[in-house]
Amino acid sequence: MKKILIVILIATAVSVLFLLKFKDEETTKVFKQDELSKIGYNIDEINLINSTLDQSSINIILEHQYINNLKDILDNPDFKKENLDSYLELMNNTDLNVQEIIYIINNDYYVTGITYNDKVVEIIKNKYCIKDYLKRYVNYYNKNTDLDINKVISNVNANLDYEYYTNTSSVDLSKGNLVLVNKYYKLDKNYVPDDLVTIESKYGNTRQMKKEAYEAFKIMFEAAKKDGLHFYIASPYRSYSYQQTLYNNYVKSDGKKNADTYSARPGYSEHQTGLAVDLMATGTTTLNEFGGTKEYEWLIKNAHKYGFILRYPKDKEDITGYIYEPWHYRYLGVDIATKVYESGLTYDEYYAYYIR
Ligand code: DAL
Ligand code: ZN
Repeated sequence: MKKILIVILIATAVSVLFLLKFKDEETTKVFKQDELSKIGYNIDEINLINSTLDQSSINIILEHQYINNLKDILDNPDFKKENLDSYLELMNNTDLNVQEIIYIINNDYYVTGITYNDKVVEIIKNKYCIKDYLKRYVNYYNKNTDLDINKVISNVNANLDYEYYTNTSSVDLSKGNLVLVNKYYKLDKNYVPDDLVTIESKYGNTRQMKKEAYEAFKIMFEAAKKDGLHFYIASPYRSYSYQQTLYNNYVKSDGKKNADTYSARPGYSEHQTGLAVDLMATGTTTLNEFGGTKEYEWLIKNAHKYGFILRYPKDKEDITGYIYEPWHYRYLGVDIATKVYESGLTYDEYYAYYIR
């Protein structure tokens, strides 16, 4: 008897609680319905909102202005509840369509403080877009609206949205043979590569370069020799102070503006890595003649097979920051040299996208 009484009591309590809760939800819904209609949603939209969304999502909707294609967002197969606030913010502040907005947010490309327009989607979908750089691409595009998006992306990837020698940082030495040294990445004054070896006279100037690059050079040298060609190393590793002397002399004789187009400032030269060489061919007396030789023709076709790339190509002056230097080769190892060669990118761009 007692047991039955307890069961009845519990059942009554549960029913009362249930009724109270139900009543509460009803009031809330009516209340929200009111608020939703106040910001402009019609009865169909409110029904859709109430049937698809939970209380916290409805609250988010109430924090934004009326959106006439809310249905398209809620019905979109890629809709994610947790992204609702961001979708609505972009809906309210851009001309992008629903699909574009969902794409941007879902792929984590949303950055506050940038102007979202149809170019943003073009940028994001570009093969070489780097997520972290989105704001920089957009700012750079806004200042250079005549540029096509490929160019916007390659320029920013090569840091060209910054003036040369500004926003510089230290070379990431952990990248080994793949380090990038250019007008934005500098080597320490005291940096000396740890495995320099002396070049034998048969291969050129008897100064030093990094062992692995030297071994690869010798193989390349022998392969070219078999084809009846002969090039040799005119300038290999250069210390910080040597580069300083070189640069200062160029500035004295040619002015800083000109010198900067063909000589790196101390700390900013690849020659300090011991991985770069300037080559000359038999029968010539200056570096400038190298571009007209058979040796050069051979190298542009074959250097990558031995791990070297032409570092400052023609028509890429604005990206590398240097004039075309047919004589300057950089060791990267066969794998990456081949990939850079096949990509058609400068190493500055390749590094940003694949190595950094
Ligand atoms: N000529 C190249 C850019 C250097 O000075 O390192
Ligand atoms: Zn050089």
